[in-house]
Amino acid sequence: TDVYTNIEINQSVADSFYNSVEKELTYHNIDDVVNSMRVLKSVIEINAIRKAAEVAVQAFTEAMKTIEPGMYEYEVDALFDYFLRLNGCPRSAFPTIVASGSNINTLHYEANQREMLDGDLVMIDFGAEYSYYASDITRTLPVNGKFSEQQATIYKIVLEAHNAVLAAAIPGESYANLFYLSRDIIIDRLLEKGIITGTKSEIISNHTYRQYIPAGLGHCIGLDVHDPYTSNYRYLEENMVFAFEPHIYLYENDSTVNQDYWGVCARIEDDVLITSDGNEVLSSDLPKTISEIEKIMDK
Ligand code: GLY
Ligand code: MN
Ligand code: MN
Repeated sequence: TDVYTNIEINQSVADSFYNSVEKELTYHNIDDVVNSMRVLKSVIEINAIRKAAEVAVQAFTEAMKTIEPGMYEYEVDALFDYFLRLNGCPRSAFPTIVASGSNINTLHYEANQREMLDGDLVMIDFGAEYSYYASDITRTLPVNGKFSEQQATIYKIVLEAHNAVLAAAIPGESYANLFYLSRDIIIDRLLEKGIITGTKSEIISNHTYRQYIPAGLGHCIGLDVHDPYTSNYRYLEENMVFAFEPHIYLYENDSTVNQDYWGVCARIEDDVLITSDGNEVLSSDLPKTISEIEKIMDK
């Protein structure tokens, strides 16, 4: 007797039934079919991602106005939770990252326990979920409202790479080329400014650049914050939605990095809809240049 349904089961009849059904069935893995359907978004999906991005931008804007030395990382996390629930989003799309000081060196830091101090950078990576669809946005901010010289230098390089990717992300371009574009800008500028040692060709052929750019360029967003994309060499098409997140990580004690820059990291991540003749940045209302950030954080 099945203890839950109280139904009498004759095990040998049940076994022969399942065995006969199994023999007649053919199983196919349909991941490829479903994944390819997820790459191009419908209007309804795009509208959900648009709303998820809008709410995240709103929450992020409030956080920027609020952050100051002495605040704890989890207070920023709490602000995000508050704003997304006020705006029809049941939860964040992934665990919010509020990584200040040396925590910025940890790629997927989620503890959010530290007191943010004067002189720190804080990297905040947050996404709202709306109607099951994700947004995914990162900003890197000076906790005291003003970038130091080294912080500004690294930030500007990331912003240049980020803007170059946004300008090039149009139908017909490949994701792989966008990554090479951002990687090359980052390596060129770090070398020109004497921040890293070596030659560009060695850094590329030895894959040393992965020390400074550990997480590629980005990914599609949709039902999952990391939505399927069938190939890095596939061309961009209208109705794809990407999170592009160029970044530089200069780890403490990295002997290839000028010591003045140890521990300085930056990432800028926006959500981008590919349109018929270009793209639309769904998170474009969120401050991104140094002057915009310093203005909104000015108390
Ligand atoms: N927050 C996850 C990512 O940026 O990919
Ligand atoms: Mn992110
Ligand atoms: Mn991302």
